[in-house]
Amino acid sequence: MSNAKILVFAGSARENSLNKRLAAAGAEAVRRAGGSATLIDLNDYPAPIYHGDDEDAHGVPENILTLKQMIADHDGLLIATPEYNGFVPPLLVNTFSWVSRKSDKGGPEDVLKSKHVAIMAASPGRLGGVRVIPRLRDCLCELGCIPVQGFVTVPGAGSAFAADGNLADETAQRGLDSLTARLVAAAG
Ligand SMILES: Cc1cc2nc3c(=O)[nH]c(=O)nc-3n(C[C@H](O)[C@H](O)[C@H](O)COP(=O)(O)O)c2cc1C
Repeated sequence: MSNAKILVFAGSARENSLNKRLAAAGAEAVRRAGGSATLIDLNDYPAPIYHGDDEDAHGVPENILTLKQMIADHDGLLIATPEYNGFVPPLLVNTFSWVSRKSDKGGPEDVLKSKHVAIMAASPGRLGGVRVIPRLRDCLCELGCIPVQGFVTVPGAGSAFAADGNLADETAQRGLDSLTARLVAAAG
């Protein structure tokens, strides 16, 4: 039994976000793999678009300090991200810009360093957001994260979830289970 603590969130604030559904399915898979999962909604941690003058005047926002501490208190991250024009959505770019600020600006130092991370993407489109995966992975590696092998994409995500919240397609659900098992094993 692993004691890995995994922080799980989606890179979408949208109420009916497909990636929030994928994050929820991922949190359940983490628990089945023997880890503990904390599922959060970035909508509960709003922050202004990063601006150096704003930071000089007001410091790092309280919500970001809370997020930094939460990341520091977990062994790994499981992120379900939308793909916007083939790229990382602004919510994640902004969140990680703030979170990456050094401790002299507020909060603990280098909270993403050596943090194990697994990346997933859901999209109503045919490619499932596959192009965003390497781009988010690059960004997280730059911040010191250690990605686990592989990823999960969910194409046609509008109709991909069963009533119990898992992925309806058995092969896809097995992929999610094995990604989260690798994350729990690496982070434990
Ligand atoms: C600005 C913008 C750009 C988008 N670009 C892509 C894209 O490159 N690839 C893709 O699969 N979907 C793209 N979409 C569609 C999103 O995948 C879709 O809106 C998805 O539901 C967003 O994730 P969410 O449901 O978790 O909020 C884009 C949507 C927006 C608003």
